[in-house]
Amino acid sequence: MNAKKLHFGIIGAGRIGRVHAESVSFRLPEADILSIYDVNRPAAEALAAHCGIPKIAASADEIFSDPRIDAVLICSSTETHADLIVRAAQAGKHIFCEKPIAFALERIDAALAAVAKAGVKLQIGFNRRFDSNFARVRNAVRSGEIGKPCLVHIVSRDPAPPPIGYVRTSGGLFLDMMIHDFDMARFLTGDDVDEVYTAAGVLADPAIGEAGDLDTAVVVLQFKSGAIGTIDNSRKAVFGYDQRVEILGSEGKIATENRFPNEVVVSNGKSVYSDLPLNFFMDRYTESFAQELKEFVQAVLDGKPTPVTGADSRAPVIMALAARRSYDEHRPVRVAEVEG
Ligand SMILES: NC(=O)c1ccc[n+]([C@@H]2O[C@H](COP(=O)([O-])OP(=O)(O)OC[C@H]3O[C@@H](n4cnc5c(N)ncnc54)[C@H](O)[C@@H]3O)[C@@H](O)[C@H]2O)c1
Repeated sequence: MNAKKLHFGIIGAGRIGRVHAESVSFRLPEADILSIYDVNRPAAEALAAHCGIPKIAASADEIFSDPRIDAVLICSSTETHADLIVRAAQAGKHIFCEKPIAFALERIDAALAAVAKAGVKLQIGFNRRFDSNFARVRNAVRSGEIGKPCLVHIVSRDPAPPPIGYVRTSGGLFLDMMIHDFDMARFLTGDDVDEVYTAAGVLADPAIGEAGDLDTAVVVLQFKSGAIGTIDNSRKAVFGYDQRVEILGSEGKIATENRFPNEVVVSNGKSVYSDLPLNFFMDRYTESFAQELKEFVQAVLDGKPTPVTGADSRAPVIMALAARRSYDEHRPVRVAEVEG
C-alpha cells in the first residue's frame, strides 16, 4: 500500500465537478483537492466551501503551475477538455478528464499525443465501467457464462432534459449522452462495432430541437463478431433514471435492472407498487464515480496503467459520429467511414 497522498486541482464546479469533488473529499482518504477553478467564480467558491477545498484559483494556469498539485480533474464543459488536457500534460500533471475529450478526432489525437509526449497518465470518465452491475455483465460475457453474445440491448434514459444552455455546448445526444452507451457496448461485449443505423427524433422537449439537437434515438449496432445490438436513449423518462442492459447469449442471458433507493413493496386494496428508481446519475452511479477515481489514484500512485485507455476514449466518439451521420443521411454507416 502506498502511503503517499495524491493532490488534485479541479477545473469545473458544475454538476459533475460536484460529484467528483465529493468523491475525493469525502470518500477517498488517499487523495485530496488543493485548488479549484471555474470561470464562474461563485460556483467554485460554493463547491470549495462544501468540500473544504482550501484555494480558489484565478485561472486554470494557476492550477497547472502549482508544484504541489500532482493531477488535475477536468470537469468543465466538453469544448474545453482537449485544450486543458494539452496544457495539463505540458505542465507534467496527470489527468482525469470527463467524457468526451472532444467532438473531433483531430483534437482527440492532439490531446492524446500531448499526453504520450509528456509521459503523464490519462483516464477518461467512463464511470459505468466501474458500476458493479455492469462489471458483473462484463464478467459473464468474458467467462462464457452465457455463451457467445447474440443480442445486446442497452436502455439509457435520463429523467428530464438538461438545461438548454448545457444542450447547446454538449455536442448533441450522440456525443454527450449515448457516448456512455457506445462505451458500454464495447466494454460489456469485449467486441467492436462495425456498422450503425440510427432512427431519432425530437419527442421530449421542442427546445432541444430548436437548439439543433435530438432527444430520442435508437441506434442499431452490428458488432464485428456478428452480434446485433440496440441502444435506446431518451432525454425524458418521467419515472427516473432508466438504466438497463440485457445480453442474450448462445447459452443464456444476463440482465441488469434499475436501482432503487429501497426495495419496499406496498400492497393495498387498489394496487401493488414500489417507489421510483434512483433519479439521476449522481445518485445511481455514486459508487462507480468514487471507484473510477480510486482506480485512477491507485494507478498514479503505483505507476501502473489507468483502466480506461486512450483508445477507449476515441472509439465511442467515432461511433457517435457514425450514428449522427446515419441519422443525417438516412442509411447504415460503417464505423470505418468515420475513422477515415
Ligand atoms: N460521466 C458522467 O456521467 C457525466 C455526467 C455529467 C456530465 N459529464 C461531463 O462533464 C462535463 C461537465 O458537465 P456538467 O454536467 O458538470 O456541466 P455544468 O454545465 O453543470 O458544469 C460545467 C462547469 O464548467 C465551467 N466551465 C466552463 N468553461 C470553463 C473553463 N474554460 N474553465 C473552467 N470552468 C469552466 C462552467 O462554469 C460550469 O460551472 C461535460 O463534459 C459532460 O460531458 C459527465
